Amino acid sequence: MRSLLFVPADGGNKLDKAMASGADAVIIDLEDSIAPERKEAARKACFDFLKSNSGKADRPRLLVRINGLDTGMTDADLDAIVPGKPDAVVFPKAEGGTSAVHLDAKLTAREAVVGLPEGAIKVLAQAVESAAGLFLAGTFKDSSKRLIGMTWGPEDLSAELGAEANRDEHGLLTEPYRLARNICLYGAAAAKLPAIETVYVDFRNSEGLRRDTEMARRDGFTGRLAIHPAQVAVINEVFTPTPDQIAKAKAVIAAFAANPGAGAIGIGGKMFDRPHLVRAQALLARVAK
Ligand code: COA
Ligand code: MG
Repeated sequence: MRSLLFVPADGGNKLDKAMASGADAVIIDLEDSIAPERKEAARKACFDFLKSNSGKADRPRLLVRINGLDTGMTDADLDAIVPGKPDAVVFPKAEGGTSAVHLDAKLTAREAVVGLPEGAIKVLAQAVESAAGLFLAGTFKDSSKRLIGMTWGPEDLSAELGAEANRDEHGLLTEPYRLARNICLYGAAAAKLPAIETVYVDFRNSEGLRRDTEMARRDGFTGRLAIHPAQVAVINEVFTPTPDQIAKAKAVIAAFAANPGAGAIGIGGKMFDRPHLVRAQALLARVAK
């Protein structure tokens, strides 16, 4: 998944617009973009939307962001939305592998009730969105088969830290949030999951979004959360491997296949060893999806 577009569950026709935005996934939000007194109405709207859209062919993946385990709202969210058969839930303020096990169990019980196979509903963990979550971000490996990726969130972290800002005057993340982003990358790699970059809130600044997303790709993220349809095309483009990258990856794989015993190979005057092969294979795997 390259682009995952958030839309508030009570967003009315924004939901249909999100479906037509070209995003690989639409995330119907029940958490931060929904005021406490609107939660119940938002759950209902979310279910109605899932019910009329989850059976459609050729649609983006449908994800629902529920409220976190410490809010007391998770069960009501899941009771309302699991019958609508979303492809996955986005799990905010996840705190390590034990929290993923906890959510997994809640989903298993509800899948049984609605007749879905166990494990049908996947989980995207917002794994580095709280200080406690940051310290546990390396513990997701093998915790739940439902996990399809990890992401992080500077807004909740800066609120928790009592920070004045999370970006400097040039728009670059300040130190505490660079750390969080990096930990998300390492945590996802340790769990063998895709790392998904967080939102870029300045949604009118498409050049800034492009630069920031290229940095994310450079560092190993394979997709990005979006908050506005205008962000989708940029994100998709940045995370779509170019014909040149595909050709280079194929050349690396072909060179190793032609030299089965070799640990390191020279191609065009540059050294390529096993980590390069792994990278080339990962790039082609993304193209195949
Ligand atoms: N999904 C689908 N459609 C969206 C959208 C979204 N996330 N954000 C904006 N649009 C639509 C608007 O409805 C509008 O449609 P219209 O031209 O038919 O009226 C069009 O895109 C242009 O919107 P614009 O005026 O530029 O923005 P806005 O002021 O209406 O909305 C936000 C700004 C931030 C409120 C809106 O983008 C939004 O709701 N984003 C998601 C917020 C969210 O879910 N946050 C939680 C995760 S961090
Ligand atoms: Mg949040």
